[in-house]
Amino acid sequence: MHTATEERIIRPARNVLGSLRLPGDKSISHRYGMLAAFAEGTSRFTNFSTGADCASTLACMEALGAKVRRLEDGTVEVTGVGGKVTPANEPLDCGNSGSTMRMIAGLLAPQQGRFTLVGDASLSRRPMERIRKPLQAMGARLTLTEGHAPLTIEGGRLTAIDYAMPVPSAQVKTCVLLAGLQTAGTTTVREAVRTRDHSELALRAFGAELTTTADSVSIAGPQWLHAMNAHLPGDISSAAFFLCAAALFPGSSLALAELGMNPTRASLLDVLTALGARVSVLSLEEKNAELVGTVQVSAPAEGLGSTTISGALAAQLIDELPVLAAIGPYTRGGIRIRDARELRVKESDRIALVVKNLRAMGAEVEEFEDGIDVPGGQRLHGAEIDSGGDHRIAMAFSVAALRAEGETKIKGAESAAISFPEFFDLLELVAER
Ligand code: S3P
Repeated sequence: MHTATEERIIRPARNVLGSLRLPGDKSISHRYGMLAAFAEGTSRFTNFSTGADCASTLACMEALGAKVRRLEDGTVEVTGVGGKVTPANEPLDCGNSGSTMRMIAGLLAPQQGRFTLVGDASLSRRPMERIRKPLQAMGARLTLTEGHAPLTIEGGRLTAIDYAMPVPSAQVKTCVLLAGLQTAGTTTVREAVRTRDHSELALRAFGAELTTTADSVSIAGPQWLHAMNAHLPGDISSAAFFLCAAALFPGSSLALAELGMNPTRASLLDVLTALGARVSVLSLEEKNAELVGTVQVSAPAEGLGSTTISGALAAQLIDELPVLAAIGPYTRGGIRIRDARELRVKESDRIALVVKNLRAMGAEVEEFEDGIDVPGGQRLHGAEIDSGGDHRIAMAFSVAALRAEGETKIKGAESAAISFPEFFDLLELVAER
């Protein structure tokens, strides 16, 4: 069970105004950190994610022989193992991070040695069969504990596969590609829904060659990675909390500079536009094949409209759905979410917790196995929020609290540090009271 250790009081706001530059993208930081640690040479990163999840990735890679230095100016310097890890004596602790566990499993499966991966209580409940299946098809020996972590890998030579993913997952795609990187022959991953492509872009930035089509990625192994330097774009999934907060207050204006704008991540901007918010992209450039830009959002005078998020869009917006649901009551026509069953196996059952917490704030809401209906035109009151130790639930309801009547108490607020330790300070900075 998760024990909430920190409570935060969020008071209602009158407006959201200002401009921010956010810490580096979590998904990209995991990949740059992991690939740099596996590559030959020393890589340097600025604006690397400050979240605990990416620290878990770096700690695991250090335990496997990589060297990590955090310089005084915040630069993260990683010296890689040159394609061959040293098996760790202790289990590798992935903390709360599904990305760390699933991606590292693919990296380690073709390596010589025995590796055990463990995680916290939440991660130990999350499905790992989805990585065992393709890795086993490649010939890897992977043992799970009733479908979950702890998991043990007996590493060794693998064979290339052609794998169609049954569930859209960038973590599973990455897992297979990292195994394919080290395996003779061509490994292909097919996806029905295009998931975030940071691994494809990062692998290329570290010198690997991949072939991509609209619905597949292939990598011919073995290939070797070489160090590189990068400045990371701000995390658009962290930005989502601020963009949604700004979308709630007529008269608001929020600018986010140097924000990651990768098209496989930026659907939130389309959804906010569909809801009636004014979204402007003030600049756009490419860095290491990732799009980076400045975005400005303001709310419509008449309030947000309504929208339905389903199908491929639900998969691409999976991390942003909790905050979109949390602002649903304040729209005029409501927010309807379907095809989002995956939300139930994230850091918490995010459908159940969103429903529970919206109801605690006095909202009417309907729960479905694969989604939520949040009717619009509702007034919410402050309440005690159960974050379930889930960073995105804690932050989503801090946003809902800005428009509620009275104060809201976020229990387990410390969980925000999993992806975004600066969240509460930055929220105070832009929330006008
Ligand atoms: C991530 C992929 C998504 C997402 C997670 C980060 C990634 O998970 O929810 O926060 O960096 O690849 P799935 O791959 O399980 O969909």
